[in-house]
Amino acid sequence: MSSAATSPLCVTARVPAKVNLELMVGPLRPDGFHHLATVFQAVGLHDDVSVEPAEDWGVTINGPYSDLVPADDTNLAMRAARLLASEAGIDVPVHITIDKDIPVAAGMAGGSADAAGALVACDALWGVWSSKTALEDLAAELGSDVPFALLGGTAMGSGRGDQLAPVLGRGRYAWVFALSDVGLTTPEVYAECDRLRSGLRVPAPTPSASMMTALRLGDATLLGRALSNDLQPAALSLQPRLEEVLAVGMDNGALGGIVSGSGPTVAFLVSDTERSLDLAVALTASGAAPGVKRAGGPVRGAHLITAASGPRGSFGSTGHETGHIGPTGLRSS
Ligand code: C5P
Repeated sequence: MSSAATSPLCVTARVPAKVNLELMVGPLRPDGFHHLATVFQAVGLHDDVSVEPAEDWGVTINGPYSDLVPADDTNLAMRAARLLASEAGIDVPVHITIDKDIPVAAGMAGGSADAAGALVACDALWGVWSSKTALEDLAAELGSDVPFALLGGTAMGSGRGDQLAPVLGRGRYAWVFALSDVGLTTPEVYAECDRLRSGLRVPAPTPSASMMTALRLGDATLLGRALSNDLQPAALSLQPRLEEVLAVGMDNGALGGIVSGSGPTVAFLVSDTERSLDLAVALTASGAAPGVKRAGGPVRGAHLITAASGPRGSFGSTGHETGHIGPTGLRSS
């Protein structure tokens, strides 16, 4: 057991949601996953994942979506904490508190974000200080989107989405997210995608030149046109009402609109913050979207925001970030 594991700390990591700017779904692999070529962008909707030593393993979820998230051993943050503990030889349980602002079962990788947050927070709490590669390997074991939640920014994903290469692009982008009150699960959307394409030859997925050009130039208009998602027909087939949401967004000034990941959230790119407010109002007024959120991107991946001792309420909600902690919780100096 690590001696650091017994210190009375509470550590909080902040983790972003993601949108797939491009999601190309290739053939089904023998392991049940699909070959992907995707471009992720981390956006400024965040969950805060706090961990503190406890008698027993446990998880509490706070926030508007808390009743939709399992608070047991199946919780992805709990699985992440236990995986790191077993790899690092730590046998002191933690209690995990997740302050959720990322919509659940929405195609924004909220569960993956919580797993990444738990890895970074537990790594610091226990004084493991894993290498970046070691944390990425654990992240990939937990889910296809977890490595990106660690990395953040804008990145190309290949393999099943877990092999990442940062995209050096310019520009900050303004997003409006139209939420849905009906969840879609990732496996059901992939299964529907397979059903819709059955009998067709599915080529190996390759990233598009238009997406890379848009990102390189930092051109929001080009990016809006280049947005694409091979899972969108499947999400629309399962949730036809999303067509109307897309139409409302495009009729009200969006540069581009797309189902986010496996949905059902619809992501709209707009030219600036002012337009994002106008679009949010229009979507709400139309009644097409039960909830709307606005966020900018890209933002950084999972990072520590507190690592001090004391009662968690005294620092867990300050939002002050410790600038010298790197994207995986590793100190950069
Ligand atoms: O890796 P993750 O747990 O996020 O994947 C959830 C489900 O999404 C998988 O069980 C699979 O059905 C589907 N999936 C897929 N191909 C990928 C990623 C996910 O078919 N590349």
